[in-house]
Amino acid sequence: MGKIVILTGAGISAESGLGTFRDAGGLWAQHSIEDVATPEGFARNPALVHGFYNARRQQAAAAQPNSAHRALARLQSDCSGEVVIVTQNVDALHEAGGARDVLHMHGTLAGALCAACGHRWPAPDMMEPGELCPRCGGASARPDVVWFGEMPYYMDRIMDHLAGADIFAAIGTSGQVYPAAGFVQEANAVNAHTVEMNLDRSYIASAFDETRLGPATQIVVDWVAEQLGVTRA
Ligand code: OAD
Repeated sequence: MGKIVILTGAGISAESGLGTFRDAGGLWAQHSIEDVATPEGFARNPALVHGFYNARRQQAAAAQPNSAHRALARLQSDCSGEVVIVTQNVDALHEAGGARDVLHMHGTLAGALCAACGHRWPAPDMMEPGELCPRCGGASARPDVVWFGEMPYYMDRIMDHLAGADIFAAIGTSGQVYPAAGFVQEANAVNAHTVEMNLDRSYIASAFDETRLGPATQIVVDWVAEQLGVTRA
């Protein structure tokens, strides 16, 4: 079937009970991006930033994957071609739903990163300011998440995948944060079929060949069934 590249955002985890960023009452309505999602905010007030990510880590740990996460994992295992899942999400619900080799371009709540030496290790449930790096001993442990002003992870690999894509699907993302919002242009440039699946039309909906609107647990499950040529149970 060729290569399918999938980009997911907060909307795919919404029905698992995790808040999105920009919907009414979303995370960015309750917290300032500058305070909790920038290196400068962390330098100013690490306790506030750790508190924000500790709370998100706790919520994510209690959440269960939904049928959209599971459907994408099934597509990956049952499709005759290659299925690459790139996510902006820092939760682990794709993996919990059975997906493999997920490219977490904005990092993961499960990880800790030393801001001084770059060492990575599994994050404890609760991170505290001043926590020591197990490798260099510096008191510079931070969540292994990508903040505004930082380079997302795996960009070379993602660009290579997009350059070989036959289908590009963006799911549950508002199309407001780059570079992810620009992936559809990369896919269009190689004549991939591009499809957006979202609750509402995103900011970049006009860039896609096709838009499917609805909750991810319905429209993603239906789309996967179509790709696999099976009828939804
Ligand atoms: P947003 O909160 O910006 O967008 C979520 C999208 O999901 C919206 O377009 C909603 O309409 C849609 N949505 C909500 N519920 C849905 C459902 N049940 N089914 C399908 N779609 C649904 O989240 P992202 O686009 O993921 O980055 O945000 C991108 C990045 O901005 C995040 O990774 C984060 C944030 O700031 C960083 O923190 C660096």
